[in-house]
Amino acid sequence: MTPVTLITGGASGIGAATARLLIQQGHKVAITGRDSERLAAFRAPHDGDNLMTLPGDTSEPADVDSAVRLTRQTWGRLDNVVVNAGFSLPGTLGDHTPEAMRMMVLTNVLGPALMVRACVPYLKETRGRILIVGSVAGVKNTPDNLYSVTKWAAHALAENTRLGVTEDGIGVTLLAPGKVDTPFWDNRGGTPEGPVMRAEDVAASILFALSQPEGVDINHLQIRPIGQTN
Ligand SMILES: NC(=O)c1ccc[n+]([C@@H]2O[C@H](COP(=O)([O-])OP(=O)(O)OC[C@H]3O[C@@H](n4cnc5c(N)ncnc54)[C@H](OP(=O)(O)O)[C@@H]3O)[C@@H](O)[C@H]2O)c1
Repeated sequence: MTPVTLITGGASGIGAATARLLIQQGHKVAITGRDSERLAAFRAPHDGDNLMTLPGDTSEPADVDSAVRLTRQTWGRLDNVVVNAGFSLPGTLGDHTPEAMRMMVLTNVLGPALMVRACVPYLKETRGRILIVGSVAGVKNTPDNLYSVTKWAAHALAENTRLGVTEDGIGVTLLAPGKVDTPFWDNRGGTPEGPVMRAEDVAASILFALSQPEGVDINHLQIRPIGQTN
């Protein structure tokens, strides 16, 4: 049986490294994102029909539903969903426009909830797994920071989902990375000084969580570069 995995925000950073690693491990992988050119450019010649790219916005219910439906329809099953798409605004609350705040909350909080809602019926069929990418910012408070609030919500969504699917054989993991060198930092002057992980390091932890034996569920993984001070 070939495992089928859907990754939101899969054309860059952690999502892209995870997609590459899972394809190498024999998964069929569907990735989403808003930038259809970047999605198309992600395809490598040897991906063949092991990769599907699904342009769409994770905060749009119709896009989320159709990504899940198309993945299940094309490959006949859905085993894993990596809820990864997200972003952070530069600055603090006082710097944000209300519209930018709305977009971040919709992407980082509504998006994951829509995905859980859409994928659980299919994951019940396979006794599959959901992995939500949170953040160290969802465990530690950050002064005047709204992104951190959205990640605290994502962490709550993971545990609330786990409690809701205990009868269904579905695994739920919250993965909380510290600093990772990805385009996430592009709108804040680039990757910060000091220790950072590579996206591939985080992808390896995602693979680890998704590869647990049947009946074993890793619920919370926190991963930092050695030396991160927060
Ligand atoms: N990098 C870090 O230090 C760090 C630390 C902790 C947690 N995280 C979390 O890790 C996750 C992945 O981030 P990353 O570091 O890999 O950064 P990234 O390279 O910027 O990846 C984020 C991905 O999400 C997609 N995305 C953003 N908004 C979207 C939307 N509304 N609908 C669909 N896709 C959307 C982006 O693609 P499009 O722009 O094409 O839509 C992009 O591919 C995020 O949830 C982030 O909060 C990152």
